[in-house]
Amino acid sequence: MGERRSRSLELVPGGVRLTTRPWPRPASPSWVLVRPHTVGLCSSDLKEVRRSRDVRADFGHEMVALVHSSSSDDFPPGLRVCLDPHVPVTRTTAFGETALLTGPPEQLRAALPAVPDGTPDDRAVFTEPLACTVHCAANVLPGSDVAIIGAGTAGVLLAVLLRLNGCRVTLINRSPERLAALSPTALLRDVPKIPRREVGTRTFGTVVVTTASLDSSTFDSAWNLLPAHGGRLVLFGGIRPDWQVPGTRLLLDGIRRGEQTLELDRGGRRALVVGTHGATGADFTTAGAVLAAPLPWTTSHVEELIVGRVTLPVLAELLNDAARTGVDPAGKHVVDIRR
Ligand SMILES: NC(=O)c1ccc[n+]([C@@H]2O[C@H](COP(=O)([O-])OP(=O)(O)OC[C@H]3O[C@@H](n4cnc5c(N)ncnc54)[C@H](OP(=O)(O)O)[C@@H]3O)[C@@H](O)[C@H]2O)c1
Repeated sequence: MGERRSRSLELVPGGVRLTTRPWPRPASPSWVLVRPHTVGLCSSDLKEVRRSRDVRADFGHEMVALVHSSSSDDFPPGLRVCLDPHVPVTRTTAFGETALLTGPPEQLRAALPAVPDGTPDDRAVFTEPLACTVHCAANVLPGSDVAIIGAGTAGVLLAVLLRLNGCRVTLINRSPERLAALSPTALLRDVPKIPRREVGTRTFGTVVVTTASLDSSTFDSAWNLLPAHGGRLVLFGGIRPDWQVPGTRLLLDGIRRGEQTLELDRGGRRALVVGTHGATGADFTTAGAVLAAPLPWTTSHVEELIVGRVTLPVLAELLNDAARTGVDPAGKHVVDIRR
């Protein structure tokens, strides 16, 4: 029998390349080899293709996969797993027909949570992004009045989760087109969707920023949605490391990544600024439970957010187009690796 080979995407200058190589061989005594089959495309993958991501490399991480083989009885062949990319293990990308993870056994166990039986793959692929919003939601009081700025996948998942937590949620987005595209989804039934330029003078006790990057005008529009006293600004979306609050020397990226809280007094408003970053194993468990249960207000679920399904070669074209044009594909795309 010939050597088994598998295709995967690799980052190359200016984009990605589809390569075919022999199956990865473990160079460590503790390993798991998985066969990814449904993998989500995340905005951080696009940042990595453009080399504009400042944190760890996570290319291809929103994964649902079946265990093929491993060094441990913890991972029987056929076990369905997703990936917690915050756990430090060594791995190859999940944008491939095989992915190899190596690391201490307890870290491999933490990095590869099992997917609950009965959760369809198209829903389970949201486990990692939802876990990050579960982590974020710990900073939002149940039942509070919340504005979410940014109606990408993160903002929409957070809206669904906060609604489950009894919050009154308003979704605000830069382009009206994205809100219009979301308006048919029953997931966001009863969630007001407002283009940023039409927000007016309303205030919200909590404002969560889930935009892909923060600039002065986004910060100011979020800050201006808070009441004069007692509000809370939660930083979830990306911030450049050297970005400072206008008129101050305050670097917000450290607040976000360090999950710090500080009181800011600015322009007649005093509010808490709270950072949220990553997710814990407990957040993954909660996310898995949310995805396994029906939503009380609709028979649909988060898989409704998938707008495009592609193969690995088509994903390569899509990422190279995004790198060339600077335009991100809108909405959630998933890769059917086995097609
Ligand atoms: N804290 C964490 O642990 C964590 C975890 C996962 C992801 N993230 C980060 O969360 C961010 C969002 O991810 P995503 O996948 O949802 O990104 P995305 O799909 O790019 O969505 C971002 C959304 O923000 C909107 N937007 C941009 N600027 C805006 C503004 N000034 N006012 C209102 N809306 C604005 C965009 O509107 P348009 O329709 O006009 O494009 C878009 O709908 C990323 O930076 C990601 O890295 C953080």
